[in-house]
Amino acid sequence: MIISTAPIQDYTALSDAECQQRLGDARDELGDRLVILGHHYQRDEVFAHADFSGDSLKLSKQAATSAAEFIIFCGVHFMAEVADILSRPDQVAILPDLSAGCSMADMANLSNVDRAWKELASVIDPDEEVTPVTYINSAADLKAFCGLHGGIVCTSTNARRVLEWGFKQRGKILFFPDQHLGRNTGFAMGLPLDEMVVWDYDLPMGGLTKEQIKKAKIILWKGFCSVHQLFQPEQIDNFLKQYPQTKIISHPECSFEVCQKSDYVGSTEYIIKTIADAAPNTRWLVGTELNLVKRLHKQFEHQGKSVHFMSPTLCMCSTMFRIDPQHLLWCMDNLIDGNIVNQIKVPKNDAKLARIALERMLEVSK
Ligand code: 13P
Ligand code: SF4
Repeated sequence: MIISTAPIQDYTALSDAECQQRLGDARDELGDRLVILGHHYQRDEVFAHADFSGDSLKLSKQAATSAAEFIIFCGVHFMAEVADILSRPDQVAILPDLSAGCSMADMANLSNVDRAWKELASVIDPDEEVTPVTYINSAADLKAFCGLHGGIVCTSTNARRVLEWGFKQRGKILFFPDQHLGRNTGFAMGLPLDEMVVWDYDLPMGGLTKEQIKKAKIILWKGFCSVHQLFQPEQIDNFLKQYPQTKIISHPECSFEVCQKSDYVGSTEYIIKTIADAAPNTRWLVGTELNLVKRLHKQFEHQGKSVHFMSPTLCMCSTMFRIDPQHLLWCMDNLIDGNIVNQIKVPKNDAKLARIALERMLEVSK
């Protein structure tokens, strides 16, 4: 019997309220055949349906250990790829909207990283002297590149431990795609700023001289997060003028200047834990995505904690926002009908090599 796939068009006009009821029913029907993973930046109407929430590291561990037949990832494309790579071959990873990408991840691709590696080879021997480190916010073939070249993956939670591991292997690190995470982590480890150079992938030799490359300890890819780059040190100064007792906490994808002005810097999971553990009646200015900051405010308001968004203008991760209750319900109803929609499947060879780099990361972060 051929069962036809319910089209997404049947779902887009449903109201959020209608979806909530139907999502609950679908969840019950799928039982433990399904696990829903939700990143902290997901909007509330989706986040409420996650069986597990977390930052990139926590969710990748969850994907690696889940027994469910289907893993629906409410997050962005690279996260669903990691779920596919780390899960068993018979498990299915699903991304409710295939257009939920990550603009930072798109700033590095295999062709420009390969070119950088070859160009570096005209000055140094990268396979002997450079550990490639990719932020988890990158495509699977870049994780495979790291697996192939003795490199590793990092997240915002374990970046320091991963860089320490990288320096034990070789004297230099090529860090992509987020220059800010690389710089903030390197500086926290004691590296001076002039030993961290930026590789501009639009320029020959990354726009660097041979001397700069030879002297560098970390070569930072010229990538950034379009959301976190909107936070500015002046926003912190202005807020502190009004509320001098405020604690500042930022994600390490923020600029060096913002992180230097922050009392705490860490992943989304770290931000949540720090505010949760803080004394009652404290005020927080947070440099990370809006959905999480709003949720934190609601969650801790009853303790007298006041949680504010760093930027005066609203900036959300528009790609995370593409995952809506309508797409989630569409995927789940199709699973009930025996259809798989929006499966994320990484090509076998890439998956094998990427897994090596991811497993190195999981080992380092134990
Ligand atoms: P976390 O791993 O800290 O959740 O960060 C993921 C991300 O994409 C932040 O922009
Ligand atoms: Fe990518 Fe930035 Fe969105 Fe994180 S917040 S998923 S880095 S675009």
